[in-house]
Amino acid sequence: ASGDEKELRAPICCILGHVDAGKTKLLDCIRGTHVQEREAGGITQQIGATYLPAENIRDRTSLKAETAIKVPGLLVIDTPGHESFSKMRSRGLSMCDVAVVVVDITKGLEKQTVESLHLLRRHNVSFIVALNKVDRLYGWKECTNAPIVEALKKQSDDVKSEYKWRLTKVVTDFKENGFNTAPYYENNKKKKVVNIAPTSAESGEGVPDLLLLLVRWLPDIITDKLAYDDTVECTVLEVNEHKDLGTTVDVVLINGVLRQGDQVIVCTKQGPVTTIIRDLLTPHPMKELKAKGAYKHHKEVRAGQGVKIVARGLQYAMAGTSLIVVKPGDDLRQAEAAAMQEIDMAIRTTDENEKGTKLKKLVVSRLARRASMCKLPVLEPWKLSLRT
Ligand code: GTP
Ligand code: NA
Ligand code: MG
Repeated sequence: ASGDEKELRAPICCILGHVDAGKTKLLDCIRGTHVQEREAGGITQQIGATYLPAENIRDRTSLKAETAIKVPGLLVIDTPGHESFSKMRSRGLSMCDVAVVVVDITKGLEKQTVESLHLLRRHNVSFIVALNKVDRLYGWKECTNAPIVEALKKQSDDVKSEYKWRLTKVVTDFKENGFNTAPYYENNKKKKVVNIAPTSAESGEGVPDLLLLLVRWLPDIITDKLAYDDTVECTVLEVNEHKDLGTTVDVVLINGVLRQGDQVIVCTKQGPVTTIIRDLLTPHPMKELKAKGAYKHHKEVRAGQGVKIVARGLQYAMAGTSLIVVKPGDDLRQAEAAAMQEIDMAIRTTDENEKGTKLKKLVVSRLARRASMCKLPVLEPWKLSLRT
């Protein structure tokens, strides 16, 4: 970037959609990972975060080396699609600059797709539609990782016409929900009409197109939002016990910098806890923060990034609350009062778990089905840890 251009932070992109639309699988396809296959019953139960450096994204697209990418990378937030997790979806979205709504082309708009649209409208967040599972169209000819227009050209007339009517149906259904959409390759009003990027998370068709839209189209649309800011904005995802590190919290750093030695306040049900950051860890690029793996240690981390924080007193940190950095000269009392307000709010909006049973039944039945197919012992339901 030229010297007079403002420094942009990595945009945070939330993946939303109905259960099993292929959100996690799409990320697996982009990362070259197998997170989805390891989820209990194939159901995501926790928000995830993955940093995709610009250079890795470039490798997956047809972008030439000399074409600038204005952002250092992209932090993608995976959310659960099951109805039980509406609070997590809303939390995920509130951290984001932009979203990808994943729709299964064989199913069209489903209940949580529509719920996501309401959220997006309420928060006024721009989004792209990934119209996923195109490889499921009857007779689809696989064209691994091909741009979608090329892949479509190779299809039979039957596949093309099935694609066309399913796409038309989806466009109509979006219209009914108040959104104008068009396949991105025919969309010449990109600021007003929502882009649809057809994809297959299975064989990768259209994935380069989706990535390209995210790094080329997106920063132009939301440049102002991405201006780098020193004020720390940081949200707690979850608390973890790590066998070597002790208690850690996973956070999304939305803006600003976190440093080792920073004094921070976390929100707990017992009240604000003031502590010092001992260590800052990130997973390796293209790896999921919540997946157990190797971490890199940092003296400081810049936004947007998913970070694992090591510090004392984190045990009771509440998911969804802010982590507040107290700078030298800041009024500690005032910062603690702000934390207290958040705690009150978080306690008041805590979900009751009435939908948890339904979720548990679904996970158990899927595990049982898989066990019977693979002749594995069935896991006892009470051994499952469900996180609603
Ligand atoms: P939740 O997180 O539970 O809401 O689901 P999800 O949206 O993350 O969907 P997930 O990635 O778990 O995929 C659901 C199922 O669809 C899995 O069996 C995937 O293998 C399959 N799937 C996802 N994307 C595709 C695709 O593009 N093509 C095909 N054929 N299957 C897909
Ligand atoms: Na799933
Ligand atoms: Mg998932």
